[in-house]
Amino acid sequence: MPCYVPQEMVLTKGKGCLVYDNEDNEYLDMTAGIAVNCLGHNHPVVVKAIKKQAQRLIHVSNIFVNDKTLTLAKKLTALTGYDKVFFVNSGAEANEAALKLARRVAYDKYGAQKCEIISFNQSFHGRTFFSVSVGGQAKYSQGFGPIPEGITHVPFNDIETFAQTISDKTCAVIVEVVQGEGGILEIDSEFLAQVRELCTKFNALLIFDEVQTGVGRLGTFYGYEQFGVKPDILTSAKGLAAGIPIGAILTYDHIAEHFKPGTHGSTFGGNALACAVGSKVVDIIRDEEFLAKVRENGAYLRKQLQTLNNKFQVFTDIRGRGLLVGAQLAAPYSDYAALLQKFCTKNGLLVLLAGHDVIRFAPPLIITKSLIDKAMSLLELALLDFLTDREILAHKANEVESELGNKKPKNKKKAKAKAAKTAAGENSKQEMPVQDKSAQAQDEVVESINDTPSATADKSPKEQPSEEHGELKAEVAKESSALVETITNTPEPEAAQEYLLVLDNNLLDLESANYQQQGHNQAPVEPEQGKTEHASKSKRKSNAKKRVVKE
Ligand SMILES: Cc1ncc(COP(=O)(O)O)c(C=O)c1O
Repeated sequence: MPCYVPQEMVLTKGKGCLVYDNEDNEYLDMTAGIAVNCLGHNHPVVVKAIKKQAQRLIHVSNIFVNDKTLTLAKKLTALTGYDKVFFVNSGAEANEAALKLARRVAYDKYGAQKCEIISFNQSFHGRTFFSVSVGGQAKYSQGFGPIPEGITHVPFNDIETFAQTISDKTCAVIVEVVQGEGGILEIDSEFLAQVRELCTKFNALLIFDEVQTGVGRLGTFYGYEQFGVKPDILTSAKGLAAGIPIGAILTYDHIAEHFKPGTHGSTFGGNALACAVGSKVVDIIRDEEFLAKVRENGAYLRKQLQTLNNKFQVFTDIRGRGLLVGAQLAAPYSDYAALLQKFCTKNGLLVLLAGHDVIRFAPPLIITKSLIDKAMSLLELALLDFLTDREILAHKANEVESELGNKKPKNKKKAKAKAAKTAAGENSKQEMPVQDKSAQAQDEVVESINDTPSATADKSPKEQPSEEHGELKAEVAKESSALVETITNTPEPEAAQEYLLVLDNNLLDLESANYQQQGHNQAPVEPEQGKTEHASKSKRKSNAKKRVVKE
């Protein structure tokens, strides 16, 4: 069924952090099967555990007890301090079981009216009907008929709305400590502490969905260890058996006892093969040295991404914990995450998406610094392809044109004179070879940036007549239109890249002029940590200048 839009190649084998297609092309895997293959591909311990268990006992169902399920349950409870585990086969099933359990606890203790569930916007909890309805992304739950009642979604990290929503009718609150599918958005510890308090006050169970953040992904065995709050029920899956399907919920006796024989079940849940592998995975990942490496390499990945971004200015934010990292595309590129992903694949790098504008990195937890460096080299190639792709150039060009279309210069006389001057300059530029023309255009843009009022800290913008801004826009308009045409007709990516740089600078120029015209008349002040709109703009401008000078 056409539920997926898979990448074009057919993968046939893998080793460590690398996978290969049927034509033997190599790819560096920063997806780990969506945060599943925590030990990479073909890990000897995993392979050995599968082989050994397959020869002994694969499956018997929960009508019987098997030794491997008991072993894994004991390891998980000893590690976390919970009393009981219920095994399933996936993340969605784990959340389904947790939500059903929470409702059953409330039903037994307080009555049928205590059935409301609070979850958060952008959250993702799986695709079964209950879990997808609880998830905070309407696009996944719409169109399947009436959704289960009693589910409320509130903004993430907004304590006021949460406090107004929770009540005696609330039976459960479900949350991810880092929203994975939602865009690598981290929960605020202060917010979480208050959520915990309110859950206790209203006798609501707090459920952490650690399907993606668990099993070492954030650099601790479970993510909750880093946020100072322990949930009443925790759900786990993905990496728990390093690629063999498994899921689990962990909780305390006084909660677990509300599931009686027959209230819930699963044919495959706690399957001997999956649990045998899971048991080995827990042994490896619980090791403090292993977890410390995850934290260290995660920080390294974020740092290297930042370095790359200093060069390209494509991402507006790089965030995450451990080896769950997101790079959010800056506004001009935000609708093109899938295109960048495609170019990554083309260059031999597999990445994930999260939210609509975030590139997600969830590599095997065994990744090394040298492989992260390799990933950055491949990403650099992908970014060069991306930034010189016609769709992106056309989009940028349209953006410039539509911005300019709305802003006509006020002082027509002055603008006309300036336009005439620019046109004369362009006539002479037309005789130049492509590279020289680009260099001169860049020089001009650098000059115009230097002349822009916002770049001159000692001048009050109030002293600049608004006609000046109109003129600047007219100039940028004229030059950009010419550039757009040149870009569209330039077949060589390198030359197009140069023109794009100039266009990019023109956009920054334009932003600056618009910003001032929108009434931001105060002199530019050095901002606190680049928080204000003006501050980040001037920083980007100076980066852009540096880039042009470097070229
Ligand atoms: C936080 C979270 N919960 C639940 C799920 C669903 O897991 P599964 O696809 O194994 O059902 C996912 C999957 O991406 C997830 O990220």
